[in-house]
Amino acid sequence: MKPVIIITVFIFQVAQKFVTGIHPSYNIFSQQPQQTLNNNGLQYFPQSYQSISGGGRVLGGNSYFGNFVPSGPPPQPGIPLAPQPTQDPATLGCGTPPASCPNSRYRSYDGSCNNLRNPILGTPNTPYTRLLPQNYGDGISNPTLAKSGNELPLSRLVSLIIYPDAPIEDPIFTLNAMQYGQIITHDMSMILGSTQAQPHGTRCCSPDGQLLELANIPEHCYPIVLPEHDPQHSQTNTRCMNFVRTITDRDRRCIPENQAAEQLTAVNHYLDLSIVYGNTDQVNQQVRQFQGGRLRVDQRNGQEWPPRSLNASGVCAIQSPQEACYLAGDARVNQNPQLTVLQIILLREHNRIANALSKLNPHWDDETIFQEARIINIAQHQFISYYEWLPIFIGVKNSLKNKIIFNTKDFVNDYDESVNPTILNEHANAAFRYFHSLIVGSLDLVTEKRSSYGSLRLSDWFNRPQILEEGDNFDQLARGLNTQPESASDQYHTSEITQFLFRAGQPFGSDLKAIDVQRNRDHGLASYNDYREFCGLPRAHTFNGFLDVISQKNVEKLSTLYESPEDVDLTVGGSLEAHVPGTLSGPTFLCILTEQFFRTRKGDRFFFENSGTSGLNLDQLNEIRKTSISRLLCDNSYNVRAMQPRGFERISHSNPVVPCENLPAVDLSLWKDMSSGHALPSAGVPLDTVGYGGHLFYKK
Ligand code: HEM
Repeated sequence: MKPVIIITVFIFQVAQKFVTGIHPSYNIFSQQPQQTLNNNGLQYFPQSYQSISGGGRVLGGNSYFGNFVPSGPPPQPGIPLAPQPTQDPATLGCGTPPASCPNSRYRSYDGSCNNLRNPILGTPNTPYTRLLPQNYGDGISNPTLAKSGNELPLSRLVSLIIYPDAPIEDPIFTLNAMQYGQIITHDMSMILGSTQAQPHGTRCCSPDGQLLELANIPEHCYPIVLPEHDPQHSQTNTRCMNFVRTITDRDRRCIPENQAAEQLTAVNHYLDLSIVYGNTDQVNQQVRQFQGGRLRVDQRNGQEWPPRSLNASGVCAIQSPQEACYLAGDARVNQNPQLTVLQIILLREHNRIANALSKLNPHWDDETIFQEARIINIAQHQFISYYEWLPIFIGVKNSLKNKIIFNTKDFVNDYDESVNPTILNEHANAAFRYFHSLIVGSLDLVTEKRSSYGSLRLSDWFNRPQILEEGDNFDQLARGLNTQPESASDQYHTSEITQFLFRAGQPFGSDLKAIDVQRNRDHGLASYNDYREFCGLPRAHTFNGFLDVISQKNVEKLSTLYESPEDVDLTVGGSLEAHVPGTLSGPTFLCILTEQFFRTRKGDRFFFENSGTSGLNLDQLNEIRKTSISRLLCDNSYNVRAMQPRGFERISHSNPVVPCENLPAVDLSLWKDMSSGHALPSAGVPLDTVGYGGHLFYKK
C-alpha cells in the first residue's frame, strides 16, 4: 500500500523533465468576467471591502494588520439601510446587504448584522481577505507563475514528491481531532463554485483524461496536468485532472477591471454552526421542523437521521435510489462517513436541547425554543472548538498569550467591532489545509469494549452515507472517532486522498494535495518566502536559507522542484516546517492560524463569552464550560455507554474510558424561564449575572 521510497526515487528521476513540461496552451488562463451578470453588480459591492484587508491584531506591526475602520454610520435597528433592487442571489454580486438590521437577540443565519457598522461583513458570497497582496501571473487574476515568468512545477509532481504516503500515527490525538477540524473548517468557509463533495460539473479534461485544445477549454478551467510517467495515472494513460478556478469578485464584476481579483467564499464566515442551521433563511427553513423548536429528522430503525436530500443523485454517489443522502445546513455533509457522524451528532444535540427546553418552558413557542436551543448548541460548539480543540493545534501558551482563550470563570467581553471576522485566504487555502495530513485511509468500527470490529476504506464511502445506517455502524464509527489515532501532522498523506479522492468506484481518483497546491496558485497567494518574512522569520536568499525550519532533505526536494526560493508556494513551504513545540504546525502556519482564530472570536458580536449579546447569563456560561466532545458523542449516539474524558486524546491511563454519566454535563435546568411568558430581551440589553432582569432564569 505504501511504496513511498520507490515512488519518490522514481519521481525524482523524472522531476527535472517535467517541471517545465507543461502543455503550451495552458499558459493562458482566461478569466473573462461573466457576461450574464446584471449591470448592478458593482453597486452591491460594499465600499468598505476596499479598506478591510487588515482588521486583526495578533501579529501587529504591519500595515495589513491595521484595524479596519468600518464605513458609514451604523444602521438603526429596524430601519431599512437602502432600497435594494431585486436580484438573483444565486448568481449575482458579492454578497447581499441586509435590508435592515432587526434588534434581535439571535444571530441571523447568513451572519448579516453581526457587525452593526458593516452589516454585510461575514456574509456568504463575499470575498476572503488576505494578509499579503495577490501574486497573480498577470498581476490581476491569472494563476501564479515563477518569478522568471515560467510555469511553476506541476502541482501533481509536487504532491508526488513532497506528500507521499507513510503510515505514521499521531502518538497523542484521536481521529476526532482531525474530524472536528473539518467541522470547524466547513463552518467557516467554502470556496465559491465548488461543493467540495462532488466532482465539479465543469469538465476541464476530455472524457478519456487528456488535455483539451485551448479553444475547447471551458471558462474558469485550470486543469491539473499529470506527468507522463505518473506512477498511477500513466497506467490509464491519463494526462489531465479536473480543476475549476474559484469564482472571484472580478468574475462577478464587483471590482474595477484593473483591480486584482479576490476569491469569494460561499458560506458565512462566523463559527456559528451554519453547517447545521444553514447559511441562508431558505436553507434554514428546509432543515427545520417548525414544531417544538426542533430540526427535521427522519426515523429509521429506531434512530434519528437527517432528512434526505431532494437531489440525491446530484449530490451523492449513491448506487440505488433507496440509499441515504442527507440534507443539512452545509452542502458537504455527505462527503465522508466520519464528517457525517459529527454532523448528525450536532443535529441530534440541537433536538436533545430543544426537547429539554420545551419541557422546562411549556409556554415557549417553536421559534423561542429553536433559537434558545441554537444559542446553547453554538455556545457548546464554540467552547469545544476554542477550549478543547484549538489548544491542541495552536498550543495552550500561544492561545493564552494571544488572547484566544482565557483562564476565567467570568465573561470575557472582548468583542471589538473594528476587528474583521472575514476568513483569510491564506488561512483557508493554505495554512488550515495542512491538516489534510491527519486524514486516515481506513475508518475503524469499534465495539463498546474498544476492540476493532472491522474497518471501512475511506474512498469506498465518499458521498455515500448509507453505510452509517447499516447495523450498529453509527455507534461503532462514533467510538472509532475517539479510539482510533489520527494520522500524524507531517508531510505524509494517505493515498486514499492523494490517489483515490472521490474515485466513485473507479480505479483511481483525484489528488487532494495536488488540488491544494493548484488552489494556492489559483488564488494567487504570495510566496512562502513572503509569509516567512511577514511572520517574523528571515527571508531566504538561497534554498539553504530555509534550513532554519525545514530539513536538509526537504530543502533539497524544494530546490529540485522550484527555480528559486522566491517561487516556493506557501502551501508547500509552510507544510515542511518543523513544529513549534506544543503545537501541530510550523511557525509560518501557526502565525496565520493564530491570527484567524483571534479574528473569529473577537470579531463575533455573539461569541459565547460576551455578556449580553451571547444570550447567556454567567451561570449559564459556566454551565456551557462543562461540555466536551466526549459528552456530545455519549448523549447523541444510541449504545455508546462510555468514553474517555478528553475525546481528542487517545485512551490512556490518564485518560481512561469511563461511564458516560461520569462525564460533566450541561445542566439545562438553568434555562428554566421563571418569568412565565415575558419576552426574552434582545441582544445588546446587558444581562446581569443572575439572569435576564435578575429573575428570568433560575439561578443555582
Ligand atoms: C476525510 C477528510 C477530508 C477530506 C476528504 C477533505 C477534502 C477536501 C476537499 C475536496 C476540499 C476542496 C479542495 C479544493 O477544491 O480546493 C477541501 C478543502 C478544505 N479542507 Fe479539507 N478535507 C478533509 C479534512 C479536512 C481537515 C481535517 C481540515 C482541517 C482541519 C480541512 C481543511 C480544509 C480547508 C481549510 C479547505 C478549504 C476551505 C474553503 O473552501 O475555504 N479538511 N477539503
